[in-house]
Amino acid sequence: MKIIHTVKKAQQVTTKLRSEGKVIGFVPTMGYLHEGHLSLIRIARKKVNVVFVSIFVNPLQFGPNEDYTRYPRDFKRDEKLCKSAGADYVFYPDVKELYPADFSTYVDVEKITGMLEGEIRPGHFRGVTTVVFKLFNIVQPHFSVFGQKDAQQAAVIKKMSVDLNLNQKIIIAPTLREDDGLAMSSRNIYLAKAQRKDAPYLFKALQYAKRRIEDKGYNRDISFLKHQMQKLIQSRPSVTKIDYIAFNDSGTLEPVTSFKESKKNKEIVVSLAVRFGKVRLIDNILINI
Ligand code: PAJ
Repeated sequence: MKIIHTVKKAQQVTTKLRSEGKVIGFVPTMGYLHEGHLSLIRIARKKVNVVFVSIFVNPLQFGPNEDYTRYPRDFKRDEKLCKSAGADYVFYPDVKELYPADFSTYVDVEKITGMLEGEIRPGHFRGVTTVVFKLFNIVQPHFSVFGQKDAQQAAVIKKMSVDLNLNQKIIIAPTLREDDGLAMSSRNIYLAKAQRKDAPYLFKALQYAKRRIEDKGYNRDISFLKHQMQKLIQSRPSVTKIDYIAFNDSGTLEPVTSFKESKKNKEIVVSLAVRFGKVRLIDNILINI
């Protein structure tokens, strides 16, 4: 496995690989890797000849009061994990390499970035799409793998790929969870003991919604379901705020307000964001209605 620090070197390598007819798979990350990230690398490993992973804590996608400076970093550990999961190249640039002082071009997907995470974290998706578009141009992948854990990010990246005619396939991989249901996340290490104990209730609430929605005989009124989910989450003492609980079409992120008029075989995503003091966790579940 090779580590690449510069854009120039990465582009030389990927251009050569492409000219040799190699199929390139790409997994962008911000590092501090866990099994969820590694599952994406393994999915790419099965599909392609060459797997690229990027590790870059992207300042552009963090708001002024967010955790950019304290975001966990451990490159030595990540390097070993990438190798064990089967990566061939790790692109590990420093901030100035991607954002020189005169940097002034941004990619902004409109509409679907105005809700949910985008509403609470203004500018977040502009930061994500800008860095991901740059990384795509650097790595020149045939496939890129993203996680369903960040459902809105997945929808936004797919939209950008369609709107800007990107010539590659976006694969969305399932969320990996701890044994008690908590979605794996680099931010889970921020959780104090009591918060960690309460955090699995987010998935419990999502599973509750899924069970009720799939049980066609039950009351499937969305405001009722939201209320029940809220009650369950708020019953945990270390929960300080629910930012949102939302029901949306999984592709367009159009809000779903009722199941009555919805078409058959539609996939919806129920997502939530919850604060445990300073720690903010997101999770979601896909449901076919
Ligand atoms: P990061 O949070 O490091 O996540 C990298 C990728 O891993 C994303 O596609 C994310 O959805 C996926 N992922 C995270 N937790 C997961 C889990 N429990 N199971 C499966 N996949 C999981 O998302 C980002 O970085 C950044 O926004 C990035 C796309 C790299 C742009 O900076």
